[in-house]
Amino acid sequence: MTKTAYVGMSADLVHPGHLNIIQQAAKYGDVVVGLLTDEAIASYKRVPFMSFEQRRQVIEALKGVARVVPQTTLDYVPNLEELKPDYVVHGDDWRTGVQQHTRQRVIDTLAKWGGELIEVPYTEGISSTKLHAAMKEIGTTPDVRRASLRRMLKVKPIVRIADLHNGLSGLIIENIGVDTPQGRREFDGMWASSLTDSTSKGKPDIEAVDVSARMITLNEVLEVTTKPIVYDGDTGGKAEHFVFTVRTLERLGVSAIIIEDKTGLKKNSLFGTEVDQTQDSIEAFSEKIRMGKKAQATDDFMIIARIESLILDKGVDHAMERAAAFLDAGADGIMIHSRRKEPAEIFEFCRRYNELPNRKTLVAVPSSYNKVTEEELAENGVNLVIYANQLLRSAYPAMVATAKSILTHHRSAEADANMMPIGEILELIPGGK
Ligand code: SPV
Ligand code: MG
Repeated sequence: MTKTAYVGMSADLVHPGHLNIIQQAAKYGDVVVGLLTDEAIASYKRVPFMSFEQRRQVIEALKGVARVVPQTTLDYVPNLEELKPDYVVHGDDWRTGVQQHTRQRVIDTLAKWGGELIEVPYTEGISSTKLHAAMKEIGTTPDVRRASLRRMLKVKPIVRIADLHNGLSGLIIENIGVDTPQGRREFDGMWASSLTDSTSKGKPDIEAVDVSARMITLNEVLEVTTKPIVYDGDTGGKAEHFVFTVRTLERLGVSAIIIEDKTGLKKNSLFGTEVDQTQDSIEAFSEKIRMGKKAQATDDFMIIARIESLILDKGVDHAMERAAAFLDAGADGIMIHSRRKEPAEIFEFCRRYNELPNRKTLVAVPSSYNKVTEEELAENGVNLVIYANQLLRSAYPAMVATAKSILTHHRSAEADANMMPIGEILELIPGGK
């Protein structure tokens, strides 16, 4: 009987390294490619550029591939147990680093039926990581960026985004990551916060920074990043004006707008009942949503309705009535906000929201209940978590401390320890030299 050689791969950016592995595997038997599903890839790195079906088409057409099967986890074991291949073929680069554990499980599992792991020397000079970095340098298009949020929401247990307020904050969200035993963790996208945009322009968060001014910040960020953007649309303004904002954002490649069900002069939600805040009527706000959805030119863009009932101490029943109505009006999701220190009322809302027959994306902003973890939010059904202002709030105290130090010491030497060295800031952004 012909032997089989199993090869697990993502095959998003197919390069000669992949072809080498397949050619080597073909020497041992019929090559079965375990193609990682979008969910499996998203569990340890970014969502693939190509969908599973597109990747399957490419791999099936490659010389030497007998069959493609989905691999639904990063772990090979379930597929190996089912297929009992004679060989698994893999690049030797996984002996160290985050994949060591996965490798050991492959060896142990193959041993059960006398199978063997074949390791092929790593192809130097090319890798998916390098290709990905090169693609990032080229940038993205509005169409690709806009669509990427819906794709992430489909395949990730929870999508995490952080506040932008200028090009540099965008670059931090785009590039900063941490390596963990489960893979690399990065932010998935950006929140164009009205609070942090207004604050960095020295203005209050009352819609005084108008849409045109907000677009200037947005453009700075669009120029230097590729990740999806969720735009904080405040109240959305007059419904007749809102339709223009929707079109502008769509054209730029923004993925979603969140508008809050308030009317009159908007104040920041975190003031709660300390200031006058008026909630819009269900009818008027639903009409705004309907007009926005009608103005939309693509299927990818999302209009998410934000409910302020908990902020205004009106309770979960009040919020639920609104959630059902706004979804009926065509909203692509609901953001529920709270300024309690504990997530109890949010979780109560989640529980009831999850039972709605037309339930869609659920968004939470854990600014005051900040001890809650992403895992807890995901377990309760939250699909998108917004770190709405933490980056700006961290930058400001550092600047104040340095300003005070210079004033105190009549020179800047004492503040050096707080600062990035001149050499590093010059090199921070590539292309400066
Ligand atoms: C923002 O970031 O501007 C928000 C979230 O709208 S909050 O400030 O909590 O209202
Ligand atoms: Mg806001």
